[in-house]
Amino acid sequence: MVEEELEQFLPENGPGPTILRKAMRYTLFAGGKRLRPVLAIMGYEIAGGEDVKHEILPQAAALELIHTFTLIHDDLPAMDDDDMRRGKPSNHKVFGEGIAVLAGDTLLVEAFRLFIQGKLPHDVKLRMLDELIDAIGVDGVMGGQAYDLLYEGREATPEIVDYIHSRKTGGFIRAALTIGGMAAQNERLVPVYREIGNLIGLAFQITDDVLDVVGDEKKLGKPIKNDEAAGKSTYPALYGVEESMRRARELVDKAIGLANYNIGPEIAWPLVELAKFIVERDH
Ligand code: IPE
Ligand code: IPE
Ligand code: MG
Ligand code: MG
Ligand code: MG
Repeated sequence: MVEEELEQFLPENGPGPTILRKAMRYTLFAGGKRLRPVLAIMGYEIAGGEDVKHEILPQAAALELIHTFTLIHDDLPAMDDDDMRRGKPSNHKVFGEGIAVLAGDTLLVEAFRLFIQGKLPHDVKLRMLDELIDAIGVDGVMGGQAYDLLYEGREATPEIVDYIHSRKTGGFIRAALTIGGMAAQNERLVPVYREIGNLIGLAFQITDDVLDVVGDEKKLGKPIKNDEAAGKSTYPALYGVEESMRRARELVDKAIGLANYNIGPEIAWPLVELAKFIVERDH
């Protein structure tokens, strides 16, 4: 459903420069786990939502547009300078840096056009937007990415690394799940989702760091060992691979406990399985 929604929203032929559309579509449809849209839809359904197509699909797909923007910019020479993404040459390697910057910018802006679509009441959509902007704004993904750069080649405290991880990655994952709860208008689950989202979000970035050390480039679709080369402040750099994974599993166990306690295993099981996947994945 997410693939279809994205294809309909951003077809090959449409207004605007063809090259910009091509560049946007290139990374958007290169693959990717679609974790954030899945979390939003899952959050919605577990919270009792019954009209995925009209009440969460546009917002869920919009999250993937924003996520793809962060990936294109993250790979730029001025940032992580990575040559591969989603199993293909990075956006700037194919389209050049200027168009890659613009493809990212445009994905971010167009995401909001998609986000406000669907049949939810306006006040509900506004609340969801506010939650999302918190997660990606100055003290969100952008803030985390800024610290990620600032602390390249510098000793970071555990607090700084947690700030970087919870902002550049964790908050977005938290927002994805929470937005699902908001769309279902389930007031009881929204704060529970925020807590679960923070836990699995941090675990997700810890696992990403660990896979950069011990993962398989082919399966990951992106280069490994670049964090160390760039002097990034990561969990493995701070704690080593084993202790990092122990901490990631601990976070996920906590999240599973919260889901089972607050939602019940019969209803929460898809979220429990997804939480397990976050630390068990190889891609
Ligand atoms: C990669 O995210 C960037 C991080 C936030 C760690 P994903 O691992 O979700 O990448 P895709 O979407 O599957 O390509
Ligand atoms: C990425 O962190 C976070 C965002 C893209 C916002 P990384 O720099 O570790 O992600 P990868 O490893 O390049 O996917
Ligand atoms: Mg980065
Ligand atoms: Mg990177
Ligand atoms: Mg990484």
